[in-house]
Amino acid sequence: MNVLAPLETLFTVERGSDLPLPPDLLTLFGHLQFPPRQGRPYVIGNFVTTLDGVVTLNEPGHVSGGDISGFNRHDQMVMGLLRATADAVIVGAGTLRSAPKHLWTAEYIYPPLSHAYRQLRTSLGKPVQPLNVIVSAHANINLDLPVFQSGQVPVVIVTTPDGLQRIREQHLPRSVQVLPVRTIHSTDSLDVRAILEAVNHVQRSEMILVEGGPQLMGDFFAEQSIDELFLTLAPQIAGRDGHIDRPGLVSGKRFAPEHPLWGTLIGVKRGGSHLFLRYAFEAVAFAF
Ligand SMILES: NC(=O)c1ccc[n+]([C@@H]2O[C@H](COP(=O)([O-])OP(=O)(O)OC[C@H]3O[C@@H](n4cnc5c(N)ncnc54)[C@H](OP(=O)(O)O)[C@@H]3O)[C@@H](O)[C@H]2O)c1
Repeated sequence: MNVLAPLETLFTVERGSDLPLPPDLLTLFGHLQFPPRQGRPYVIGNFVTTLDGVVTLNEPGHVSGGDISGFNRHDQMVMGLLRATADAVIVGAGTLRSAPKHLWTAEYIYPPLSHAYRQLRTSLGKPVQPLNVIVSAHANINLDLPVFQSGQVPVVIVTTPDGLQRIREQHLPRSVQVLPVRTIHSTDSLDVRAILEAVNHVQRSEMILVEGGPQLMGDFFAEQSIDELFLTLAPQIAGRDGHIDRPGLVSGKRFAPEHPLWGTLIGVKRGGSHLFLRYAFEAVAFAF
């Protein structure tokens, strides 16, 4: 395997003190800083998008983020780094359905740096693996999937009271908890603040990583619960022909022109023709 070249830092804004990255990660990524916490978890999102804004090709056999990034190793390395800093990684059930064999761990996405990721978690005083959180209203979830059965990661399924009933009809592995959380008004949509509260209850969290997909991300943006977005821009045009839905990183919610959400650029790195962007967003201050 070719050795991965370091990312080139083109622009960066000071955000706080440096995380104790082990040498391999420091060389590849450069310094990583997050602002001091404000008495609540800091919430970051991570997505990869094509130049024309597509985050899933949405075709049989081509529904993964890898199809978008071109299975780019820099992107996998950064995903691993963010997972290694996170106390919990949250995904929607649609993302689980599109990647049924996945574990949301640093090692799983970029095995060559397993040792460095583990070192980082140890230095940060975090448990071996981040809590994997699956968000689902209906909880039609196959509990035979590796994320539930491997025992390698602690898992929480957050769902509605109806979802809780449904999932209790299956045998629940020991590493899996199910928590019902409140919904918004009379919908099936779980309240994002309640999701974060449930996550923090199971695993006290300084840093929570949201890896989507678009529907969950829309809900997080709608409730102004994203502090930062790490966005990989992959240099391909995927196109849309109107026959299949090819969402951007938000679906199911509309912001502009009435309430556009503007971000502030705080970082740009380059790996070949891929760009690694970092945007800060105004998140609502909340307390549990
Ligand atoms: N390019 C990238 O970086 C990236 C990142 C992530 C995902 N993706 C792609 O995105 C596609 C999936 O899109 P998606 O929009 O379906 O993903 P999603 O947001 O992961 O999944 C949607 C499902 O998650 C549950 N859900 C999400 N928000 C909820 C809320 N607030 N309350 C209750 N349930 C909630 C619901 O599950 P139930 O139906 O079970 O109730 C909903 O149907 C996949 O192809 C995946 O590969 C791409």
